[in-house]
Amino acid sequence: MSGKAIIDARAVDYSLEIAGRPLHILRKVSLRVAPAEVVAIVGPSGSGKTSLLMLLAGLERPTGGSITVNGTDLGTLDEDGLARFRRRTLGIVFQSFHLIPSLTALDNVGLALEIADPSLSLAQVHEKAAATLAAVGLEGRLDHRPSALSGGEQQRVGLARATVANPPLLLADEPTGNLDQKTGAVVVDLMFDLARRQKTAVVMITHDPGLAAKADRVYTMTQGQLTETPVHA
Ligand SMILES: Nc1ncnc2c1ncn2[C@@H]1O[C@H](COP(=O)(O)OP(=O)(O)O)[C@@H](O)[C@H]1O
Ligand SMILES: [Mg+2]
Repeated sequence: MSGKAIIDARAVDYSLEIAGRPLHILRKVSLRVAPAEVVAIVGPSGSGKTSLLMLLAGLERPTGGSITVNGTDLGTLDEDGLARFRRRTLGIVFQSFHLIPSLTALDNVGLALEIADPSLSLAQVHEKAAATLAAVGLEGRLDHRPSALSGGEQQRVGLARATVANPPLLLADEPTGNLDQKTGAVVVDLMFDLARRQKTAVVMITHDPGLAAKADRVYTMTQGQLTETPVHA
């Protein structure tokens, strides 16, 4: 791969000190993702997948190596800079949805857009949020609170929230982990279709090799080490 990358992580180490002893979570992890590329990461529980996503999101800092996202070396940013970086650059989809229970689907998505772009008027926020919910098939659910939605619908709201501001990068940590297999496959198809249409790069963690196979490239995390898995060979 040549030219600009959306993610360029080089020799990333991540270790924590637990009870006075170092715990090595990631070892010399390198990952390069091109703009609009869709990448999946599989690997056993406890191998370091979520830790890598936290580092890519600038929510934790590596203990070695460097992480450049969308041209910015995250190591050069202070906490405010990292918060701004996340608002402008990232959408994140979590396993357990993390929607705000008291807000409707429209307001959950609208709030994310307002935070990403405070210059928009309320009418613009509503229009864009409604259009994004329609893009994930939820035009009939705008006024529903999360408790009135199925798991698959809640995750589609999560997907709309993560993509409403058209971020160049979408990070998803086991987005189907709380869904049955069929619903999960529908959500992943939607996520990848949306990303390909918006030219959003995606890094998705999944336990399901069938879902991983829908990505352009697949990596495997094993005990903190990341290797690319040839899929279409
Ligand atoms: N804050 C933390 N404190 C202690 N151990 C942690 C912490 N974060 C991650 N770990 C450990 O790091 C390893 C990798 O965790 P994680 O990145 O969540 O793996 P995965 O997402 O692949 O299941 C696990 O052994 C986990 O217990
Ligand atoms: Mg995890």
